[in-house]
Amino acid sequence: MKTYSLTQVTLTLSSLFLAWSLMESRAADDAALKQVFKGHFLVGAALNQSQFTGSNAAEVAIIDKHFDTTTPENALKWEAVNPKLGKFDFGRADQYVDFGEKHGMFIIGHNLVWHNQTPKWVFEDDKGEALTRDALLARMREHIATVVGRYKGRIKGWDVVNEALNEDGALRQSKWRKIIGDDYLVKAYQFAHEADPDAELYYNDFSIENAPKRAGAIRLVKDLQAHGVKIAAVGVQGHYDLLWPSTNLLDEALTDLSKLGVKLMITELDVNVLRGGTRGEVADLRRSRSRRNPYPDGLPAEMQQKLADRYADIFKIFLKHAEIQRITFWGVTDGDSWLNWPGVTNYPLLFGRDFQPKPAFDAVVKAATEFGNEVVTAPVGLGAKWDRHGQPGRR
Ligand code: G3I
Repeated sequence: MKTYSLTQVTLTLSSLFLAWSLMESRAADDAALKQVFKGHFLVGAALNQSQFTGSNAAEVAIIDKHFDTTTPENALKWEAVNPKLGKFDFGRADQYVDFGEKHGMFIIGHNLVWHNQTPKWVFEDDKGEALTRDALLARMREHIATVVGRYKGRIKGWDVVNEALNEDGALRQSKWRKIIGDDYLVKAYQFAHEADPDAELYYNDFSIENAPKRAGAIRLVKDLQAHGVKIAAVGVQGHYDLLWPSTNLLDEALTDLSKLGVKLMITELDVNVLRGGTRGEVADLRRSRSRRNPYPDGLPAEMQQKLADRYADIFKIFLKHAEIQRITFWGVTDGDSWLNWPGVTNYPLLFGRDFQPKPAFDAVVKAATEFGNEVVTAPVGLGAKWDRHGQPGRR
């Protein structure tokens, strides 16, 4: 009988393992996110102009294959659609909505009332003085009626008020609050409902995983509900890093927010790989020649792996929470991300600058596959109005 040396056996086993892992990762490469997460949540991306005009064909192919919902990164913000008093410009916004429809996506509007990307004139009269409460309310109503009204029945859900909270959970002292008062929120939701009674209305914010801000978000939603606002979901933005939020904190926050009896949506997901490593890594970054931009030419394999592990951990928590109905990444490929600040090369998404899926993509697909068909039961009262095909009910 032929005998084999230990080395031969080890080599054969290693090549079999390598072949198996390659097959696994090829299988993951072929997977489409929207299929992988079917029955759990819609999967989407924030789109920029080069994508929704179709000029970036490589990214359009990724979007078409993987995403069934979309958010405009900038095209529907106040400064984009209403740059001057009395001047609306829907050129880009129309292209965005047309693109979403052409690709059969659940279309989100982002956003109506925010302290950022809102021109100065909005808050001032023709002499440059602060508007009165009534005048600003009238301006808000006109803006919302015009924008929401234009896309009535086409944009299915709106981030109505964006980022109204401070880190301590108190209401941010934005110009909206300063001039109108705390009820600017209730008014914004009432105006949005008037403009499209069938659209879902969301409250969207970042770092509401942290206890004080989370408590503020819960108070805010309860207050809206007490005023008769039918709020459909809380948008948890999901701008994460390698350490924050811990999986325990994330799990606890989602559990807490779900008690509001509204849906949850992860609306702007990315993982900043340049922030939050272990103490050792942070020290290494500090010692490195360019600590602001440590990886200008590509992410080293061990960091790719860290990002992949982090994404897997985050998705395992998302999968546990039946109230989550949508996960939207804030960009398609790493090159699109807002986290590439001037002079900084970041790698926060599932697709690389070469348009290829990264190890983080495979990790997310694996998390879903391992989760399998485990039955997740939505808490009573969380009936969804639509599913990915626009049909009522979802699970
Ligand atoms: O439109 C001008 C253009 O005319 C000018 O030539 C160019 C030169 O810098 O700037 C353009 O504006 C940029 C705008 O995006 C549109 O591209 C701004 O400089 C830039 O600051 C702005 O950044 C956006 C940021 O919001 C501003 O707040 C990011 O693209 C966008 O990803 C980011 O998205 C936000 C969400 O809406 C809310 N949650 C946080 C998230 C990340 O900050």
